[in-house]
Amino acid sequence: MLVEHKLGFPIRLFIYFLFCSSQFASSQLPWQYNTSLLNSTAGLSTSWTNRPSLTGNSTIVASRMTPILHRGNTGPRFLCGFACNFNVTECFFGVILFRTKNEWVNYPQLVWSANRDHPVNKDATLKLGQDGNLVLTDSNGTLVWSTNTASKSVAGLNLTEMGNLVLFDKRKHPIWQSFNHPTDSLLPGQNLDSGRKLVASISASNQSQGLFALTVLNGFWATYTDTDPPQYYYASRYPVNSYFSFDGQTLTALQYPNTSTAQFMKLGADGHLRIYQWDVVDWKEVSDILMPYAGNRGTCGYPMVCGRYGICSNNGQCTCPAEEKFFRPFSERKPDLGCSQLTSINCNSLQYHSFVELKNTTYFSFYFNHELSSSILWLEGKQLEDCKRACLSNCSCKAAVFEYDWNWNGTRRGNDWNETRRGNCLLLNEVFSLIDNEERKDKTVFLKVQNPSKAQTQSPIIPGGKKSRPFKVIIGATLAALFGIILSISSCFVIFKKRTYESRKSEDSLDLEPILPGILTRFSYNELKIVTQDFSRKLGQGGFGSVYEGMLSNGTKIAVKNLDGVGQVKESFLTEVKIVGGIHHINLVKLLGFCAEKSHRLLIYEYMVNGSLDRWITHEKQENGLTWQTRQRIISDIAKGLAYLHGDCSHKIIHLDIKPQNILLDQNFNAKISDFGLSKLIDKEKSKVVTRMRGTPGYLAPEWLRSEITEKVDVYAFGIVLLELLCGRKNLDWSQAEEDVHLLSVFRRKAEQQQLMDIVDKKNEDMQIHKEAVIERMSLAAWCLQGDFNKRPSMTLVVKVLEGLVSVETNLDYNFTSQPEVEARNHQMEATSSPKLPSVLSGPR
Ligand SMILES: *[C@@H]1O[C@H](CO)[C@@H](O)[C@H](O)[C@H]1NC(C)=O
Ligand SMILES: *[C@@H]1O[C@H](CO)[C@@H](O)[C@H](O)[C@H]1NC(C)=O
Ligand SMILES: *[C@@H]1O[C@H](CO)[C@@H](O)[C@H](O)[C@H]1NC(C)=O
Ligand SMILES: *[C@@H]1O[C@H](CO)[C@@H](O)[C@H](O)[C@H]1NC(C)=O
Ligand SMILES: *[C@@H]1O[C@H](CO)[C@@H](O)[C@H](O)[C@H]1NC(C)=O
Ligand SMILES: *[C@@H]1O[C@H](CO)[C@@H](O)[C@H](O)[C@H]1NC(C)=O
Ligand SMILES: *[C@@H]1O[C@H](CO)[C@@H](O)[C@H](O)[C@H]1NC(C)=O
Ligand SMILES: *[C@@H]1O[C@H](CO)[C@@H](O)[C@H](O)[C@H]1NC(C)=O
Ligand SMILES: *[C@@H]1O[C@H](CO)[C@@H](O)[C@H](O)[C@H]1NC(C)=O
Ligand SMILES: *[C@@H]1O[C@H](CO)[C@@H](O)[C@H](O)[C@H]1NC(C)=O
Ligand SMILES: *[C@@H]1O[C@H](CO)[C@@H](O)[C@H](O)[C@H]1NC(C)=O
Ligand SMILES: *[C@@H]1O[C@H](CO)[C@@H](O)[C@H](O)[C@H]1NC(C)=O
Repeated sequence: MLVEHKLGFPIRLFIYFLFCSSQFASSQLPWQYNTSLLNSTAGLSTSWTNRPSLTGNSTIVASRMTPILHRGNTGPRFLCGFACNFNVTECFFGVILFRTKNEWVNYPQLVWSANRDHPVNKDATLKLGQDGNLVLTDSNGTLVWSTNTASKSVAGLNLTEMGNLVLFDKRKHPIWQSFNHPTDSLLPGQNLDSGRKLVASISASNQSQGLFALTVLNGFWATYTDTDPPQYYYASRYPVNSYFSFDGQTLTALQYPNTSTAQFMKLGADGHLRIYQWDVVDWKEVSDILMPYAGNRGTCGYPMVCGRYGICSNNGQCTCPAEEKFFRPFSERKPDLGCSQLTSINCNSLQYHSFVELKNTTYFSFYFNHELSSSILWLEGKQLEDCKRACLSNCSCKAAVFEYDWNWNGTRRGNDWNETRRGNCLLLNEVFSLIDNEERKDKTVFLKVQNPSKAQTQSPIIPGGKKSRPFKVIIGATLAALFGIILSISSCFVIFKKRTYESRKSEDSLDLEPILPGILTRFSYNELKIVTQDFSRKLGQGGFGSVYEGMLSNGTKIAVKNLDGVGQVKESFLTEVKIVGGIHHINLVKLLGFCAEKSHRLLIYEYMVNGSLDRWITHEKQENGLTWQTRQRIISDIAKGLAYLHGDCSHKIIHLDIKPQNILLDQNFNAKISDFGLSKLIDKEKSKVVTRMRGTPGYLAPEWLRSEITEKVDVYAFGIVLLELLCGRKNLDWSQAEEDVHLLSVFRRKAEQQQLMDIVDKKNEDMQIHKEAVIERMSLAAWCLQGDFNKRPSMTLVVKVLEGLVSVETNLDYNFTSQPEVEARNHQMEATSSPKLPSVLSGPR
């Protein structure tokens, strides 16, 4: 309903003028209803007729209301009664949450309704009969809804302080209560028990049950499409913020913070689960709870974000599968409405079914479905051909999603994998939005299509990919390809030599190595399965692999990273682990142990309670963002950690992928760098090009192009992180106006105009108070971002600046991306391979 505010403004005005003119004579304005005249309980043999007497301030669903019961004089106030649209053509009996302003019923929210799928008219009646049954009857006499509580010794009806509508007996025990029959919202104190569900509305203006639902199942709380079978898009065993609790059986909405602020949780028509709170004059969204797969890159993990068959790419852009013979957008102008299949699947002509293959594409339910339902639609250990065959042979299958399993050891031959490789296969009987898979390239979606009857049947696969991309991307890609060719030629020789050497060695080095001396613990795969409860709590997912939470028998929490690119020789893995394990510094995430068993390669890290820095930068985690003091400490922690890696420890280590996702925070907001040294652990063959061009777009120093990589690339990336932390936004932020997408260009512009305070994070007053210090840190960032890496300070020097021992260089060039090649490179990165680099999330979280 909040979504309606924007749409609703003209309507609001309309309402306002209509009433100002038509009811001018009336002494009491229609929204100035004295609610304190209403009762909060009612006895048997009472009935009420729907004749709206109350006008709400601005919602479509509850524009006009017939109050029946009322509760609450401070804090949240509730009405039980009829809520109608403005023309009183659709009414719902339900519970309404509202705030008052001078006795106005302000922005009422329908938080529960009895008849969401069957709206009633004016003059509908609600009757609490002598028998104790509460019955809703439409104006023409049709029975619409009842509580079926006849002869259950009901004594009366009560609207409680929490907004629960209760039929109680003589001893005041509840016989029936609305809290047990939720619609799409939960109020603080309300439980969602195992087996019950919330179902979202169709849209903001239509209350009928829509596509999305939330339930509690097998110890998880999960959101899914309310289809048969359901497709899950989020699941968790834990609450993820303080607005609700979850114990495996019951999800309870909580009053948070501990004040009397009116608040509710609602599953929206778009599948988002949000918390709303009354904020002085209006409802404000305070939390968007879910983080579905791909959620860290926008909204691609939501099932209908691009409509059916639409492909969602990193920043929420929608396209249709490229084969125009089979798919067209419903609307060229609104690509998020999805794509229509030109010829629908005909079950009487199976021989004309084939697939459109979408490489590097995945599907939202791939990660959650098998955890929640042991459905026949999830097949493990299948070969690619089996998966496709399974889908072709069942007409109700509309698509198959396949992923090779890197851990599959059954058909391994040396270091080579071929068609006998196996993996996981998900069959779908309904296809919602697809995800352009940015990080992991080993997934493929096969969309079933119907060929025209005389068409080519010899080739069951029509190869192809996603729709062609914009022009500048093509230029970027071409440049990149050229670059890639040069690179591969130059590195071919080296790789070739190395490979022959390593593969010779690999065959005989698979015995157990001697245990590493000292601190590092070697875990067996089975032990890790136990401590992570069979890898059930995923903390994150990234190119290097997935990170899971675990708990050792002594109660220590750990983060277990399951590395993906595990083709490499065990010996070199152990060498690198030894090096990384030997590095200790308070600002580096500690490696506690590892597992190298058969093809499994896992690293065990200390657990960092407050997760990664990126979520704090954009305030996802905290309303006002971090205080200046905390930010300063974080900056200094990162600088010290990097200085140590670059100079102080015995092996000089260039991190190569400094970014907020790789900065983790402990319970006291001490920052620690993660994933250092990992670049060497990754299978070199899996990422030929990437080994050279590591890193993440937005954080890449200009010299990446010239292949002259020094530790100054980390200094550059540190500069970006520093700037992001000061400005409270990401370097590349597509939600900004076009000229503001790149923080660096904004920075340059504002520096030239001497208006740097404009870009400082405004969510926290604290930042404005420490103006001078903040500006000073900005010039440090500028120093670190110098296009010529020789001009950047070393990290040791940065630490000295932070300690106040050295001052920042004054002759600085604010044209940070002076090299023209850099622009080309960045474009290519953003548009094509950017998200595909293997480390959008590479830290243990
Ligand atoms: C709704 O309430 C706001 C503030 O409470 C007020 O400014 C506005 O005029 C009201 N609109 C209507 C249609 O009553
Ligand atoms: C509402 O009714 C109560 C009880 O009759 C009365 O005390 C109060 O003044 C009324 N409020 C207004 C705004 O009329
Ligand atoms: C409140 O309850 C009393 C007694 O049951 C009843 O007489 C009165 O009409 C009720 N008031 C309203 C506004 O329904
Ligand atoms: C309400 O009724 C009026 C007149 O009957 C009509 O013009 C208007 O479109 C209706 N509004 C809505 C929201 O249905
Ligand atoms: C009463 O009205 C509803 C909708 O307004 C309609 O579906 C139903 O058939 C009507 N019933 C009778 C008995 O007329
Ligand atoms: C109605 O609910 C309130 C709590 O909100 C409670 O104090 C009161 O006793 C209840 N009344 C009856 C009759 O159950
Ligand atoms: C709400 O959606 C249902 C189901 O699609 C439809 O039957 C009904 O007409 C819609 N109501 C309105 C007011 O659009
Ligand atoms: C919230 O406030 C209540 C009453 O003051 C208190 O009993 C409760 O412990 C508080 N809860 C928290 C989490 O502070
Ligand atoms: C790997 O092989 C071992 C025995 O050779 C077997 O027990 C294990 O299940 C296999 N793992 C997978 C993932 O197939
Ligand atoms: C794949 O490996 C199997 C077993 O080694 C072999 O028989 C088959 O010929 C290989 N296929 C290809 C295409 O290399
Ligand atoms: C075909 O798939 C549907 C679910 O999509 C399933 O219910 C049905 O049993 C399958 N039929 C066969 C023959 O496997
Ligand atoms: C998919 O990823 C692979 C591996 O990086 C790449 O070679 C290929 O071009 C990609 N395919 C498409 C259609 O994007």
